[in-house]
Amino acid sequence: MKSPIIFAEGSYAKEDIEKLKKEKPSCQVIDVLTDQLAELFEVLHPNLDPISSDETYQAFISNKAGYEGGNWVYYPWSNQLVHMVNADDFFTLRTNRNQYLVTADEQQELQKYTVAILGLSVGSSIAHVLAHGAVVGEFILADKDNFSTSNMNRVQIKVSDVTKPKLDVLMQQLYEANPYAQITGYERGVDRSNIDDLFKKQKLIIIDEMDDFEMKVRVRMKAKKHGVPVVMLTSLGDNILVDIERYDLDKRLRPFNGLIDGVVGSILSGQQITEGDKKRYAVRIVGVEHVPTRALESVRDIGRQLVGRPQLFGSVTISGGIAAYIVRQIGLGINLDSGRYFFSMADLLKQPRLDLELNESRKRMIKMMNHKPPTGKKFHRLPYVNPSQFYLAASAQEKISHLLEYAILAPSTHNTQPWKIKIKDRSCQVYIDSSRQLPAADKLRRDMYISLGAFLHNLETAARSYGVFHKTELSDQEGNLIGEVYFKGLDKKTQGDYDEDSLKAIQTRSNYRGPFAPLAITDELRRRLSKLESNKLKIKLIEDRWSIEELANLTASGLKLAYKDPTFRKEISSWINPNSSRKRSGIPGYALRMPALTSQIIPRILKYKDIGEKLAKLNYQSFVGASGVVVVSASESNPKVWLSVGQASQEIFLALEKMGAVASIYVAAVEMGNLEKSVSKIIKLHANQKPQFLFCIGRPIWPKVYSPREQLRSKLIS
Ligand SMILES: Cc1cc2nc3c(=O)[nH]c(=O)nc-3n(C[C@H](O)[C@H](O)[C@H](O)COP(=O)(O)O)c2cc1C
Repeated sequence: MKSPIIFAEGSYAKEDIEKLKKEKPSCQVIDVLTDQLAELFEVLHPNLDPISSDETYQAFISNKAGYEGGNWVYYPWSNQLVHMVNADDFFTLRTNRNQYLVTADEQQELQKYTVAILGLSVGSSIAHVLAHGAVVGEFILADKDNFSTSNMNRVQIKVSDVTKPKLDVLMQQLYEANPYAQITGYERGVDRSNIDDLFKKQKLIIIDEMDDFEMKVRVRMKAKKHGVPVVMLTSLGDNILVDIERYDLDKRLRPFNGLIDGVVGSILSGQQITEGDKKRYAVRIVGVEHVPTRALESVRDIGRQLVGRPQLFGSVTISGGIAAYIVRQIGLGINLDSGRYFFSMADLLKQPRLDLELNESRKRMIKMMNHKPPTGKKFHRLPYVNPSQFYLAASAQEKISHLLEYAILAPSTHNTQPWKIKIKDRSCQVYIDSSRQLPAADKLRRDMYISLGAFLHNLETAARSYGVFHKTELSDQEGNLIGEVYFKGLDKKTQGDYDEDSLKAIQTRSNYRGPFAPLAITDELRRRLSKLESNKLKIKLIEDRWSIEELANLTASGLKLAYKDPTFRKEISSWINPNSSRKRSGIPGYALRMPALTSQIIPRILKYKDIGEKLAKLNYQSFVGASGVVVVSASESNPKVWLSVGQASQEIFLALEKMGAVASIYVAAVEMGNLEKSVSKIIKLHANQKPQFLFCIGRPIWPKVYSPREQLRSKLIS
């Protein structure tokens, strides 16, 4: 960006100006010097009239006026040459009407300050007030975007400015108001490469009006380090929210006054933020309770119908005035605390706050935005899936990712999470991750496929909850692709309705390990189980105590058999993690109810010592207390059948979860040796059926614990 060319008095000759005029033949010459000097005389001699005190006046202007008196300022962008007073006289004139309201000493003190305005839509109003009001001495302006016509509802620009860089337009406007202005422009906006330059200034105040979420956080971290105050003004309809962070007074202050504490770390660690996340964080920073209903509804439509957040010129303009006041208070050391301040026009004019009236639409939006993770003693699953993300997602792909966040919460054998996913335009392909096979515990890969079936069911359920499930096609081919789930209506403008219970059940389900309280098994539950049966699949619910005890014995025997095998022990020891581990796959010790120290030792000693007897006893005790045992059987044993075993079982797990009941999976009796034959006998299975999966059901006595999950992005393949 070019600044004006200044020919300062004493440093140019008449010829220099003539030469310039010749080079720029169509240049418009504007001479305001005489009028300015007359005004200056009045300002400096308030008791004298220039006409009646002609002699004094002549003496005053004799060495100031004339061709070589005053400064010549050439504006290249408008081809104008202005003859005017020098910088000092101009300052005297410009600030004359600030007098008394701002004393000369205060004015001088404030001139030592630099205000950095980051983001030049709302920022441009602020810049105008600060520059025209001569509030501070220097400016840093940063924005990389260009003006579009839709900016005109809140920024004072000309039609001919549309498409031009915001920074250039604003700098021109400010230089036209004051050619001597001290302005540094960051044409790329603030980014990681120039953020440190920003903080080289001594007396700096930052006004953050950026959209870039990551930079908002980074600027605050630097401001904290350097002790620089940050002010953010957010116009919300006819209201203005003012956030003041006085890192100059307290370096321990939390960024955004603590409003997004949980996500600052992940943003700084470079974790990718989706468009949906950005909108959610933006609403979280502002506080959903402050956002007028009409503006809240717009959040969903940003990127679809609206180019950006709706804003009104009135409150944007007032933001400028408020910012100038705050800058003066900070600059002059007048007490102004960190915190949030709210300016509401309706409140100030003593009107009811209709914009916050709690109608149905507002209630729904607030509920969605405020959705919080269920609290449990340990909720180790990260990240927590917020249903609003689906509606805030900017693209079909982002919506599919959101659905997959639910899918990955499926149970899996040893928490191996053996899935890989390829997101396509309107579907996603699910692959088996063969590297996650457990050769000792799951030779046939049955448990792997059951896990993938549970994954598919979660994905289908999440999609159904938002009304976007189309179909699942299981693959007939050999290879790692196990199927493709298709979606519909991903582009539709949804109304924000979703099946909250199902989405919640997916997130709150976990595999229970512990003693049971009795669960009243209802006909409704029995009906649901039988509805899941097909030609191939049989689901038996065993409720009589004798059979449950027999099955508990078989499970104990299966466990003892498994632990006798050193290869099995070695394998399982590598899938059990100490409580303190940050590993996201495998079973954490706490999920097996181990205290911290035991969780450190067990994986190590398992390799050498057979603890099968002890484990069998513990498992037996829990098992016999179950209110029922579900055995899923099938007439065939192949991957497709196992997938449907997983789908049906996960459906049962979610149904139980909604009833406040839990399931404990025990596969030892169907997996080890010939025990499955005894299982068949106990549950009176038809000869052509084979037990494939087994779990106990009941009500939990101990609090539920949650095993971690690998991040979705590590599961995606391109
Ligand atoms: C096919 C399959 C077999 C499983 N077998 C057992 C088992 O024999 N014993 C057990 O305690 N958990 C078993 N689990 C539960 C997993 O360990 C559990 O799902 C996983 O650690 C994730 O924890 P979460 O379900 O609580 O989210 C099995 C899970 C699946 C899907």
